[in-house]
Amino acid sequence: MRVNTISGRFAALTIIFVMLAELFILLPALASFRLDYLESRLERAQIASLAGLATDESIADDLESELLRNAGVLNVVLRRSDIRQLVLSSRIPAPVAQTFDLREDGVAQTIDDALRTLANPRNEVIRVIGAPVNQAGQLIEITMETAPLRAAMIDYGLRLLAVSAAFSILTAILLNLAVQRLVLVPIRRVISHMVSYAEAPEDPRQIITPDARLAELRDAETALATMQKTVTSSLRQKERMAQLGQAVAKISHDLRNILTTAQIFADRLEDSGDPKVRRAAPKLVNSITRAVNLCETTLAFGKAEEPAPTLSRFPLAPLAAEVVEAESLACGEGAQIEFLLDIPPALTIRADRDQLYRVLTNLARNARQAIEGTGKPGAIEIGAGETDNDWWIRVGDTGPGLPERAREYLFKPFSGSVRKGGTGLGLTIAADLIRGHGGRLELVRSTDEGSEFMIHIPRDMVVMPLRQAAGLR
Ligand SMILES: Nc1ncnc2c1ncn2[C@@H]1O[C@H](COP(=O)(O)OP(=O)(O)OP(=O)(O)O)[C@@H](O)[C@H]1O
Ligand SMILES: [Mg+2]
Repeated sequence: MRVNTISGRFAALTIIFVMLAELFILLPALASFRLDYLESRLERAQIASLAGLATDESIADDLESELLRNAGVLNVVLRRSDIRQLVLSSRIPAPVAQTFDLREDGVAQTIDDALRTLANPRNEVIRVIGAPVNQAGQLIEITMETAPLRAAMIDYGLRLLAVSAAFSILTAILLNLAVQRLVLVPIRRVISHMVSYAEAPEDPRQIITPDARLAELRDAETALATMQKTVTSSLRQKERMAQLGQAVAKISHDLRNILTTAQIFADRLEDSGDPKVRRAAPKLVNSITRAVNLCETTLAFGKAEEPAPTLSRFPLAPLAAEVVEAESLACGEGAQIEFLLDIPPALTIRADRDQLYRVLTNLARNARQAIEGTGKPGAIEIGAGETDNDWWIRVGDTGPGLPERAREYLFKPFSGSVRKGGTGLGLTIAADLIRGHGGRLELVRSTDEGSEFMIHIPRDMVVMPLRQAAGLR
């Protein structure tokens, strides 16, 4: 058992604590042992002295010294009344060094006396006074040597320590077994789970199922499971995104080729004999050119992310008119959607024109699709203005408002779409593009009477690379 393991620490601490506790009770135990020892000497001396009562004459020297030897004392005086006292005596090897009256000593005194007895290795003669047992007199007094008392005390103390050591080792072993079973086995299980999870973190089967019986361990397992779920799902999401990135690149590549061909055909339409076709042709060419540019920037960056906006100053009203025109064209037959523009003609704005076109198109298209979904007539309004600090553009509609799921996952890719055929990217793209301008896109109103999105673009904008604007590293 190593000391740097939990079970090793537990065992060492148990032994230390039990021994410490034992030391605390050792002193009172030794004091009480000494008291018992002295009282038993008094009792034995009392019995020995009573032998003297059996005869009125003084007892023989041999018998007297035998009685004293058996009692383990040198002298006894038993005072039965004020006048009568019995005495057994033998030769005292040294003068009396100290007198102890057991009738008066308190606890602190007894502990102090015990310590002094242990600390003094010399064999001294002491006098001990106590009350006789069974009220057989007024007082009993003995003289005795301290060496046997001290030896008995040391022997008792050592036995007590040995028992404590055995007890603490046994406790440590039992505790160690309990710790092994209750704590270490589950911890090892968690560790082996972590190791196997680390080998295949994208595999959800490796996620730990919390089943520890101890509440703390169960909590740790639950927290681990939650973390593993988050890691696994974000890894899977990342993998999906990587695949999607490749797919986007491939699609953009071929789409650009197809659109370039369409561009050539659209160019030819400008020479058409039909005036209606001739009028529509430049718009078609513009739209296709925008699409080709989008494909090219996507390909240039290799991923589904945009470059930083290319800023220019331009009037906002014509841009909004283009959006409205494209969206009105996209309205199905018979759809009664009214488009309103509330933009001061003189309002110019500094932004990336193509990106802002995409933002407004996404917002206007969402509004159109929402109104169309109701089957009722409705209106879409694009308004704009400026303050000292920023330009604002408002896109409002009289549709049904955003569904709960869309509100919950607002601006989160692939999550908020409730529309059939929707991908849930439009709002995310719009928000990312505006963030790239150092601005923000907000949903300011969404009730069953309509929705309203607000764009703020700061005048002193700090252009951020879109990857950073989207919070990616
Ligand atoms: N003006 C609006 N009125 C009502 N609901 C809206 C409006 N704008 C967005 N939504 C809701 O928010 C959801 C998310 O919109 P978002 O543009 O991100 O994705 P989408 O339109 O579903 O798909 P796509 O990626 O093709 O745009 C939509 O599915 C729609 O339910
Ligand atoms: Mg959309």
